[in-house]
Amino acid sequence: MRAVIESTGSSVTSALAVSGQVSSCQDTVHPRLKQVLCRYLKTDWLQSYHSPTVDNFRRLVNLSDFSAGQSFILDSGCGTGKSTLALARQFPEHLVIGVDRSATRLAKSSLEHSLVRRGNCVLIRAELATFWRLLLVAAYLPERHFLFYPNPWPKPKHLQRRWHGHPVFPQLLALGGEIELRCNWEIYAREFAHAVSIATGYDVQAQQLQNVTGVSPFETKYNQRGQPLFSVRVPGRVTTAFRHNSARSLT
Ligand SMILES: C[S@@+](CC[C@H](N)C(=O)[O-])C[C@H]1O[C@@H](n2cnc3c(N)ncnc32)[C@H](O)[C@@H]1O
Repeated sequence: MRAVIESTGSSVTSALAVSGQVSSCQDTVHPRLKQVLCRYLKTDWLQSYHSPTVDNFRRLVNLSDFSAGQSFILDSGCGTGKSTLALARQFPEHLVIGVDRSATRLAKSSLEHSLVRRGNCVLIRAELATFWRLLLVAAYLPERHFLFYPNPWPKPKHLQRRWHGHPVFPQLLALGGEIELRCNWEIYAREFAHAVSIATGYDVQAQQLQNVTGVSPFETKYNQRGQPLFSVRVPGRVTTAFRHNSARSLT
């Protein structure tokens, strides 16, 4: 069975559940992306923190072997946490932290409360826009940062819900590390790459994934359905330079 997500209409969520195929009336990079991003690059974002995330962040930094300056890997929007567990096996010397706001998804990895740890894998329930800002303020900077299949928000009017159109985007970049975004909607990947290029001056391109490993449940599902998948990689030196050269204070 094949269904699409229409960019209008009320059956968006159920259509996504059936196929995961993104369809949008937007067929190129959003015309307002540069304007929106440039505003965020110049002005401070003053929204208050999500308080349950602040509490859970405290629990995380209270882990005995987690301290500022330490190498760790972030899996943002980790869903069920399967990708986090896979990364923890791949990087046994690192603490690998999976973050998601959905209690239902995280419960599939037995997260009953706010944080669960298995070996070098930590899963934490948190709102990313607050979580990233807290990490940055406390100078907990990941060595690598994975964003696997973020919600695409295919309606053009929802540009500011996509991570590269969101006010937190400067902090996401400034957090640093090598960033990899994966996505099944080419426009999202191209926009993300374009936003990185505008913010950092470094030419980044979206690439179609050639060796799909099924690193996460969504990647496995889309791959089984034969969808093309896209990746954007941002080198750590680019995000570090962005943090140091940013025109405004990001913490
Ligand atoms: C499409 S799913 C992808 C899950 C997983 N990365 C994968 O590839 O299988 C997107 C995930 O991002 C999470 N998410 C979206 N916005 C978030 C936010 N602001 N803070 C935390 N998690 C968020 C959702 O709860 C969901 O689990």
